Amino acid sequence: MTTDQNALKRAVARAALEYVEEGRILGVGTGSTVDCFIDLLPEIRERIPACVSSSERSTKRLEALGFKVLDMNDVEEIGVYVDGADEIDPSFAMVKGGGGALTREKIVASVSKTFVCIADASKQVDVLGRFPLPVEVIPMAARAVKAKLEALGATVTLRDFVTDNGNAILDAKGLAIAEPEKLEAEINMWPGVVTVGLFAKRGADVLLLGTTEGVKTFA
Ligand code: 5RP
Repeated sequence: MTTDQNALKRAVARAALEYVEEGRILGVGTGSTVDCFIDLLPEIRERIPACVSSSERSTKRLEALGFKVLDMNDVEEIGVYVDGADEIDPSFAMVKGGGGALTREKIVASVSKTFVCIADASKQVDVLGRFPLPVEVIPMAARAVKAKLEALGATVTLRDFVTDNGNAILDAKGLAIAEPEKLEAEINMWPGVVTVGLFAKRGADVLLLGTTEGVKTFA
């Protein structure tokens, strides 16, 4: 990653602070862009009673900065969820899971009123699929799900990684995802699939895009 890209990530992370609601539980995603966001949160500490996090990685970072991180089961609703993306299309459908946290990200997103996506300009695409699509699977289903993804035309690799939930991740390369919601629904139905990294049915509500001309807001 270039220094320029890092600067864009820091810029969108700062812009996202504006969306943090006073006194409400904040949903925090995972990734290098979110790391920049977490590192800025002490500036608005008094606004944040507690957070819910989408990964052990973000939880550790939040707790190290003195933030309270709640179990999702103790939370009814989250106002704002701030997270990154590997790709985002014009309808705000996303590919996520490059950092392996897709399942918890989808869970937190599902109970959040507003999903604020923070991304540098390299993540904006017309059609999803340039970035390999992550699919979290129960380990015993890896071979079967891999075969199904290959039947769709993907080249599939098993990531050398164990998720926070103890599962495996398949990365499916070479899919041109013209109908993200349809593909999300289809892959979700396969036995052994825990989560597909397509966030189309529940996409982002706001996109803060870091560009060389500054942060652009789309909503
Ligand atoms: C993690 C994710 C991240 O949001 C995605 O990978 C983007 O990460 P980064 O901000 O490091 O580019 O989905 O599972």
